[in-house]
Amino acid sequence: MSDASTTTRSVCIAGTGSYVPEQVLTNADLEKRVATTDEWIVTRTGIRERRIAAEDEFTSHLATNAANKALEQAELDPKDLQLIIVATITPDTLTPSTACYVQQNLGAFGSVAFDISAACSGFLYAMKIAKRLISDGAFDNALIIGAEKLSSFVNWDDRSTCVLFGDGAGAAVLKLREDDDDGEILATEMGTDGRQTRLLNIPGGGSACPITSENADQHLNTLAMLGKEVFKHAVLRMKQSAELVIERSDLKPADIDLVVPHQANLRIIDAIAERLDVPYDRVFTNLQKYGNTSAAAVAIALDEAHRSGRIPKGGHVVMVAFGAGLTWAAAAIKW
Ligand code: UT7
Repeated sequence: MSDASTTTRSVCIAGTGSYVPEQVLTNADLEKRVATTDEWIVTRTGIRERRIAAEDEFTSHLATNAANKALEQAELDPKDLQLIIVATITPDTLTPSTACYVQQNLGAFGSVAFDISAACSGFLYAMKIAKRLISDGAFDNALIIGAEKLSSFVNWDDRSTCVLFGDGAGAAVLKLREDDDDGEILATEMGTDGRQTRLLNIPGGGSACPITSENADQHLNTLAMLGKEVFKHAVLRMKQSAELVIERSDLKPADIDLVVPHQANLRIIDAIAERLDVPYDRVFTNLQKYGNTSAAAVAIALDEAHRSGRIPKGGHVVMVAFGAGLTWAAAAIKW
């Protein structure tokens, strides 16, 4: 879906922030729990450890912590915030939305707040939606957040999934771009293939399969994935959507200073870098430390890349994500 706009209001990223919980769960810890090895996890995925939220630390808390850092960097008072979008598949409650809890935590009562559900692509879906709403004049600023407490939705006895996921949150403040503000969002892209819902899902806990006393022991409210099939779609869709935003920004792969991809698997990231013809030292990864944090992954990666100086002034960044749905999304940003 193209983002060609008839308006000229340009939108930029004014601040980023991220937060991960304190508790570290290593591959060695998982070896004690399921029939796996550090060697298998590292060779097949690249993941070495992940963060696990405390029992009383919910998705909205992770989101609020990341949001506070992004607001501080953007020098925006929560009272002046106009829009909050939280991308998550692990909301605090089915209703109200996690965004409502975040609004309450921030005291941002002048804002409109809602969630979107697009799995690992959610943060970039939120970026596209917020960008369009700002460029069309509906709002002048927005807080977008990718936040997940996946540890609550993982079957800790299933070695094929429990080694992959972690908890965390990343956020960005978007605003109407003025004068020579950095962080201009040049192009965004998103797509969906609802024919592939069976490949990656949480089958239970919704109206199709409520959790009952009869099925409570079947782990239906945990993530189920056909990894190999997801892998193939991920490489193809991320390559295509990254190419689209590069082209729409009138750039060439050689102009890209940093690719910030979804952090699911190093082999997927390698394959995309190769197909995009971007050298590996221009690809940001942190999945070694956090595993796959779904909607939070690209948001945390962008914040870490930004704060650690990996993005040169005036540099071009391409973000790209892929997840359950299937969904995919990309964005090109000039820093
Ligand atoms: O974030 C949303 C998008 N998600 C993704 O992009 C994930 C995409 N998929 C993947 O990253 C990979 O498919 C996985 C990492 C999930 C799996 O890697 P794989 O190379 O596709 O392995 P596999 O599922 O084909 O399993 C290979 C073998 C199997 O054993 P057999 O049948 O060959 O004897 C599995 O039972 O590895 C076994 N296995 C494990 N062994 C040790 C599966 N999980 C584990 C484990 N430890 N944790």
